[in-house]
Amino acid sequence: MHVIFVCLGNICRSPTAEAVMKELVRDAGLEDRITVDSAGTGDWHVGSPADPRTIAAAERRGIRIAGVGRQVTPEDLEHADRILALDASNLANLRAMPASVDARERIRLLRSYDPEAVAIGELDVPDPYTGGPEGFDLVIDQVRAACAGLLDELRAELETEPV
Ligand code: 4NP
Repeated sequence: MHVIFVCLGNICRSPTAEAVMKELVRDAGLEDRITVDSAGTGDWHVGSPADPRTIAAAERRGIRIAGVGRQVTPEDLEHADRILALDASNLANLRAMPASVDARERIRLLRSYDPEAVAIGELDVPDPYTGGPEGFDLVIDQVRAACAGLLDELRAELETEPV
């Protein structure tokens, strides 16, 4: 299975989600069954490393963020089993892209996998780019809770599939 996280710049939220999900997948021993990627809807940061504040917040939790920004492509949408938007604006941008009917059905809001976020109706991971360092810590907390739910769903699907 393949999942891709999509935010605006691919230097703050989606690289964090990618790193956190990779850690959860590794801990679950599912590295050979689930691959994880990230991209941005915008192109301003293509080729740039993640924001230093994103890297620092992750490092404080023992999570390493590597890789450089890239822009999401129509091929990404066809290739992924789940396309996870970090906020409603990213979701709208993804829905505006050319995609097959099947691919469209695989586009979701990441926080829809966090029952607490659903209960309070707060489904965006806020963009931390223009705020203080606490915003970057919040991204990790929100993303981790949602990725746990996402992993549960993927694991259940894998159990019904032949290896
Ligand atoms: P991200 O944050 O979408 O979480 O990577 C942003 C990074 C850069 C910009 C906006 C959001 N920007 O406008 O450059």
